[in-house]
Amino acid sequence: MAIMKLYTYPDKILAEKCDKVEKVTDETRKILDDMLETMYADKGVGLAAPQVGLKQRMIVIDDKVGEDGTPGPHPLYLVNPEIIEKSAETIFFNEGCLSLPGQCAEVERHQRVTVRYLDYNGKEQTLKAEDYLAVILQHETDHLDGILYIDHLSRLKRNMIIKKLKKQAD
Ligand code: NI
Repeated sequence: MAIMKLYTYPDKILAEKCDKVEKVTDETRKILDDMLETMYADKGVGLAAPQVGLKQRMIVIDDKVGEDGTPGPHPLYLVNPEIIEKSAETIFFNEGCLSLPGQCAEVERHQRVTVRYLDYNGKEQTLKAEDYLAVILQHETDHLDGILYIDHLSRLKRNMIIKKLKKQAD
């Protein structure tokens, strides 16, 4: 496994719509493994392929809780994830992003989502999630369409974060 280069705002890859993965192969799995390692190294809970410079619909997630509530590593690999159901109820969550280092903001998200995707072995799966995991899934699938969490904020708040990022980069 290898740690990949992280792309940060305003790199244009973060604003692009990613391509569907035709088939889950050993090459796909190698990328997923490297993405997970990169995510762990940066202490993230989710990472999308464009964040490591790849225009492909792939994400990795680990919210460190198993379906039965047991703590510890529980990596999720999602290829071509698609949100097929979302609750009308929404929640506000304080989100950050490895591509917008050092910043965070409250974002409104659906409280529950159902996601259809291909797993590590290329098998179709359906995942129902709520609260924290639902938020991560929405944040990461957004990345595949070139959407960042700041795009969900008011223009004022969005500009404030962009200004701070520019200041950091100077
Ligand atoms: Ni992100």
